[in-house]
Amino acid sequence: MVKKCLFPAAGYGTRFLPATKATPKEMLPILTKPLIQYGVEEALGAGIKTMAIITGRGKRAIEDHFDISYELEHQIQNTGKEPLLAEIRALISQCTFSYTRQVEMKGLGHAILTGETLIGQEPFAVLLADDLCTNSEDNVLSQLIKIYNTYQCSVVAIEEIPFEETHKYGVISGKIIDGNDDIYRVSDMVEKPQPKDAPSTMAIIGRYILTPDIFDILKDTKPGKGGEIQITDALKKQAKKGKVIAYKFKGKRFDCGSVDGFVEATNYFYKQTHKEQK
Ligand code: G1P
Repeated sequence: MVKKCLFPAAGYGTRFLPATKATPKEMLPILTKPLIQYGVEEALGAGIKTMAIITGRGKRAIEDHFDISYELEHQIQNTGKEPLLAEIRALISQCTFSYTRQVEMKGLGHAILTGETLIGQEPFAVLLADDLCTNSEDNVLSQLIKIYNTYQCSVVAIEEIPFEETHKYGVISGKIIDGNDDIYRVSDMVEKPQPKDAPSTMAIIGRYILTPDIFDILKDTKPGKGGEIQITDALKKQAKKGKVIAYKFKGKRFDCGSVDGFVEATNYFYKQTHKEQK
């Protein structure tokens, strides 16, 4: 059973400076909802109620967001504005949130390792809130959990990307298994390769199910690309033992870590809500 979701949220968000100077990038809103709230909603939609958030200096707004704001709520009580907080209130009442701080920024692998005390020895989900995903049926995390339940090993969500963009992602190679074009047994993975060195154009996006042995592997993983401890390098060690599945998820993903993706997501969600309101 996957019962916990880890949210690495300690990064600086330099691509959104100056907006992220005093505001965590995970709190940037698509319409009226911060990115991390979409992530928590996705986890809850996948049946996960325990949220483990890896924060860092200057990220307190995330904790405040998933808490009651007595003064504000008292002020808007019995006014037309009260319903604006209904969604977040419902979310808070259904989930528990725990936090730990990543004191030094040593990469995504290091952030995940920092979460060991919150996760313990059980399989868990990892959700990178700046990859905003949406699907009309099962959400992407639910899809990954189904794959995990079948194969009982780590699972990464993948998507085909243009050849010239491999340097932005972890890229996998693998073989289709069980006659399903969407499911691969991973044989190799490389963090942000140049196109000429990329083993394929199948890129990992920010959704993972990890088995807890990843923590010990991460403790032994040396800094890789960019001098950082990479989750891709740790996963590669599991992959060499046939213990990683890559799954071409159904749905749409927006790279909200880039201004272009952020604007695209904003337009998409605006059109969606606009349609619903008509
Ligand atoms: C991280 C991972 C990378 C993955 C990407 C998905 O990179 O290191 O393997 O493809 O997330 O968004 P980042 O975008 O944090 O640099």
